[in-house]
Amino acid sequence: MTAPAFFPQDIIIRKRDGGTLTEAEIRFFARGVTTGQFADYQAAALLMAIFWRGMTPQETAWLTDAMLHSGEVIDLRDLPGAKVDKHSTGGVGDKVSLILAPLAAACGLVVPMMSGRGLGHTGGTLDKLEAIPGFRVMLEVPQFRSILRRVGLAMIGQTPQVVPADRKLYALRDVTGTVECIPLICASIMSKKLAEGIDSLVLDVKFGRGAFMRRKEDALALAQAMVEVGRAAGKPVWAQLTAMNQPLGHAAGHTTEVIESIECLKGRGPADLMEVTFALTGHMLVLGGLAPGLAAAQRRMETALADGSALAKFRAMCAAQGGDPRVVDDYALLPTAQTRLALRAPADASGYVSEVDALQCGHAIMALGGGRAAVTDSVDHAVGLADLIKIGTPVAPGTLLCTLHVNDEAKGARAAALLRNAIRFTATPPVHEPLVQELIR
Ligand code: URA
Repeated sequence: MTAPAFFPQDIIIRKRDGGTLTEAEIRFFARGVTTGQFADYQAAALLMAIFWRGMTPQETAWLTDAMLHSGEVIDLRDLPGAKVDKHSTGGVGDKVSLILAPLAAACGLVVPMMSGRGLGHTGGTLDKLEAIPGFRVMLEVPQFRSILRRVGLAMIGQTPQVVPADRKLYALRDVTGTVECIPLICASIMSKKLAEGIDSLVLDVKFGRGAFMRRKEDALALAQAMVEVGRAAGKPVWAQLTAMNQPLGHAAGHTTEVIESIECLKGRGPADLMEVTFALTGHMLVLGGLAPGLAAAQRRMETALADGSALAKFRAMCAAQGGDPRVVDDYALLPTAQTRLALRAPADASGYVSEVDALQCGHAIMALGGGRAAVTDSVDHAVGLADLIKIGTPVAPGTLLCTLHVNDEAKGARAAALLRNAIRFTATPPVHEPLVQELIR
């Protein structure tokens, strides 16, 4: 057996003392965690050193590249058309992917989307898709490629062969208090996105009460780091900063979000959700060379919604991935909760809604059984929130604040209590906070 090129402890000590790691050391680390040459306790120690000492943009780019090449990198160059994806750092009621992917494909892009599951108060695209009876998200790369060729979009989970280093590192970060670290988040997200075979990428970096990053400055730093890593990898990456203080749209959960997404594809989407969807899809169309600017992209998207081609793409994707495409016309085919509970404004309510706390709404969904506290938990797709009121809406006694889709009375009562606390009122109209903020490119 040949001696290792490096000793893990030397790498840990250098980072612990605030030093900069070399490309070779970072590649040794990424390879070592995948093969086991870097023991879990040593990897955890290095992660903590990185958490405190940070990484330079160059170190972050090397780590991303080393993680990317720890497994299979999908090559889609033989597929005609621009391959563009979108990734969101996650929020509550964020169902944009379900609308954006078919919309972008209807406009002519190829959308190879690998998504994640929900964890904690945030929902996950894969769980939402699995509310559609029969829909399969765990497909092999040849099937992924074949659906992309035929339909122009596919939405699947990460295959075991893609970025195994992230699987290992994320699990370690999760249990060692090292998740909230910008270089590590950046390398984790970007390695997985670059492994999809994309030509370019749009990122939706959320900030606010319901987001992973509470503060806009942190979201901005993460966005800049990811755009920089894209540049180092030779892939154009644009990042939009989006406020996530209240849930996006009026629905949060699984079935309820699938219904709202289909409504958007039928041209009946709520304004805030469509604003974010149009902005992100518009950037994808510009990056993919299908529109010279956002105004042209907007016209193209509106046509794809009006002529039914975006909805047809959604239907085709469902059918290609084993899902029942009839859900598009018959929402009763989706998992349905036993009861609906109307939450109404109290007898003394007046004025306007000033707050719909996205974090508390996420906790309410978890209380209903529609969230996941640990990665191994299963979720109840039928439960969730609908008709959720928006900030700025006038209220009076009895105004409907939310409809809870409930499968268990006690859980429904707990969720309702959380929502009562989440929705607050004010005498004067609240100051409007722009949803779509900066674009980093
Ligand atoms: N999402 C990821 O994929 N990785 C992180 O580190 C954080 C969020």
